[in-house]
Amino acid sequence: MFEIKAKDGKGRVGVLKTKHGDVKTPALMPVIHPRKQALDVSKYGADIVITNAYLIYKDPELKQKAIDEGLHKLINFDGPIMTDSGSFQLSVYGDVEITNKEVIEFQEMIKTDIGTSLDIPTAPFVDRQQAESDMEITIERAREAIDYKKEQNMEMLLNSVVQGSTFLDLRRECAKELSALDADLYPIGAVVPLMESYHYRDLVDVVMNSMKELSDTVPRHLMGAGHPMIFALCVAMGCDLFDSAAYILYAEDDRLLSTRGTFKLENLQEMPCSCEVCTKYTPDDLRAMPKEKRRDLIAQHNLHVSFAELRLIRQAIYDGNLMELVEERCRAHPALLEAQRQLGNYSADLEKYDPRSKKSAFFYTGPESLCRPEVLRHMQKLREMPKKRDLLILPPTKKPYSKFISGKLGEFYIYGAEQELDLENTDFMVLDIPFGLIPLEIDEVYPLSQNDAPKTRDVDSIEFIEDFITEFVEYYEQVLIHSRIIKDLEIGLYNKCSFEDIRYQKDDVKKVKAIADYQFGVGAGDALFKGNIIIEKSKKTGKIRHIYDGKVLIVNMRASDSYLILSKEGAKRLHNAMPYPQNRVVVNKDSEPFALDGKSVFCKFVVECDEDIRAKDEVLIVNEQDKLLAYGKALLGACEIEQFETGQAIKTRKGMRK
Ligand code: GUN
Ligand code: ZN
Repeated sequence: MFEIKAKDGKGRVGVLKTKHGDVKTPALMPVIHPRKQALDVSKYGADIVITNAYLIYKDPELKQKAIDEGLHKLINFDGPIMTDSGSFQLSVYGDVEITNKEVIEFQEMIKTDIGTSLDIPTAPFVDRQQAESDMEITIERAREAIDYKKEQNMEMLLNSVVQGSTFLDLRRECAKELSALDADLYPIGAVVPLMESYHYRDLVDVVMNSMKELSDTVPRHLMGAGHPMIFALCVAMGCDLFDSAAYILYAEDDRLLSTRGTFKLENLQEMPCSCEVCTKYTPDDLRAMPKEKRRDLIAQHNLHVSFAELRLIRQAIYDGNLMELVEERCRAHPALLEAQRQLGNYSADLEKYDPRSKKSAFFYTGPESLCRPEVLRHMQKLREMPKKRDLLILPPTKKPYSKFISGKLGEFYIYGAEQELDLENTDFMVLDIPFGLIPLEIDEVYPLSQNDAPKTRDVDSIEFIEDFITEFVEYYEQVLIHSRIIKDLEIGLYNKCSFEDIRYQKDDVKKVKAIADYQFGVGAGDALFKGNIIIEKSKKTGKIRHIYDGKVLIVNMRASDSYLILSKEGAKRLHNAMPYPQNRVVVNKDSEPFALDGKSVFCKFVVECDEDIRAKDEVLIVNEQDKLLAYGKALLGACEIEQFETGQAIKTRKGMRK
């Protein structure tokens, strides 16, 4: 009932299927009050709404009508409807006059599309005992609801809400226990107080820790989040659904939502956007209106900016620049900037989900960009790469660096024990932001060329470079540092290098071997490129296109990101050389003939896979005896392939039978 169409990091565009139609996610569900709704929210972009089953249950007239005619008729909305259970009333009034079982039964009776069990929203920063005992009740009720739904053969989808207050281990525990149950959606609850008090940093901790244990196959809903300012951040953490009464509550209070924050009508000289309301009326017009009309117009504006933001977020996911949007949005308020910095501490979690290559370039928007998954990934890969005796570090040129570096390279200073120069035994790297050291052989590989940063460096970048160099000089006997960068560095003593004619010798074979090692793991380069290596380049661009052993094609190089695409021979060589489970996706016996014929691999047939596989990787498809069946491109990361039971995992390029 939930299918992922596109992804960027932990953010995804998906389709949630319900009896009343499909919903494209990330989506916002406007809160509909069963009695007070004045606005037709579907007119302003809502595909799904949320209302409160408990409020209906408590109101004899509404209750009867809902039972007789159904919920959709009652609130006059024929798309999908989610209902909440009264937990919010429980958290405000301390009590509700309904049991968990009753509210589940009632939601099914009025034909909601998605119902919710009666969780206990535990406020942030309470004592641990309270959080623990509330959580246990919440989990128990989720279990009861799921069992009851199965027993009664109910049709509605079911929410199980993650609680645990601000205790991160409790959030993880709760998410883990709920994931073992069979709920259809996982809301993250009790975050409204964090958002209202601008505790966005704690919000990041709560959401990221809940996400750690929640299945990726299930939609995740951030309950009560309705300010468009935080949508991008929350989508980047993996949230698929938002709901809120903010659009109407803020309107009641003459406040206009925007991705830059909230505007009070009393302070407005100008209307803040280009929606129908903002282009038709001036602030004075609105101020002069009767309260109710003004409220509805502001609510209309509020919905407009919220849905516009979600469209922008979905497009950013398609384009692969969601983090750039997050970085932009998180400059709207210092508390959001703090939240983004906190998200940087979860870079390793995000990296597992980040595709290896994207349509968009990586943009450095500030020091926070240095904590992005791509940077972490490059550092880890670089640590694993084989190293020569010496390292030579160059200042950046235009990209790709290797294209613009030629002739005499200039003056160098030496760090470390001075020895004879041996350029054959020297790694050449460029020092730049945001990727630190970039070996010249692999500089065209995504995102090492496909990025942009200001030439003038901020202090964080300088410190980042210093730390990077301090680590990497340790791996070499002698380090030569170009005179133009020496002044930025505080790493010790240097002597000027007396030899002045240092040049970079381009070598295409070395280049493709280094790319193979970086892409497939150390050793892949030597294994792939042996024999009579012939490298064919594009006449137009001069870029490497095809690599042969004599007449046999081994790999193609993709122009956009310089990753290597295996041929049949390339796949065989890689498979022979790299030990199990590197680069492999293992499929079960039943799907073996399909793989051999070159059919794509579905997640449910995968029994195991190399945990280092990321979306867009070129992979080997093998059986359980490690026989090579086919090769292709991963559409998801390893952790997703292992969890998903529907959808494609690998787009097969060719089966070995053909
Ligand atoms: N609405 C906002 N927060 C919550 C929550 O924690 N649980 C439920 N059921 N509804 C909410
Ligand atoms: Zn507007």
